[in-house]
Amino acid sequence: MPIERTLSIIKPDATRRNLTGRVNAMLEAAGLRIIAQKRLHLTTAQAEAFYAVHAARPFYRDLVTFMTSGPVVAQVLEGENAVARNREAMGATDPAKAAPGTIRKELAESIEANSVHGSDSAENAAVEIAFFFAGIEITG
Ligand code: CMP
Repeated sequence: MPIERTLSIIKPDATRRNLTGRVNAMLEAAGLRIIAQKRLHLTTAQAEAFYAVHAARPFYRDLVTFMTSGPVVAQVLEGENAVARNREAMGATDPAKAAPGTIRKELAESIEANSVHGSDSAENAAVEIAFFFAGIEITG
């Protein structure tokens, strides 16, 4: 199986409730290695740019407001099939529909405040990793 990298974000609802370590433990238990990590508070322009693909969606403005409401932790995860593995560990976007044991089922507050983001493809992972990290900050 291919070793991949994916971009993860621990969202403001999770950092507010001091759940960074808990999320990281769940990611590591899922076989993912955290090879880069930084805590930052996104500006409105940064959140808009990161979620530009959702700009036409009705939830876009609320999403940007939420993602700038507190600090986030951006991470690069590495492992076999890291993109799919991380999405499996996260669970469905809506925590009410997420499988038991997933991060969103166990920790998320709502479909918006859903604790974590994960890239949805290897192609998007490369773009999203480059959005947050310089190559020199990633040690595999
Ligand atoms: P994420 O995986 O970061 O990708 C887009 C985000 O938009 C998603 O997680 C949720 O936080 C949010 N989102 C997706 N669908 C909805 C929705 N129907 N209502 C509100 N927020 C949503």
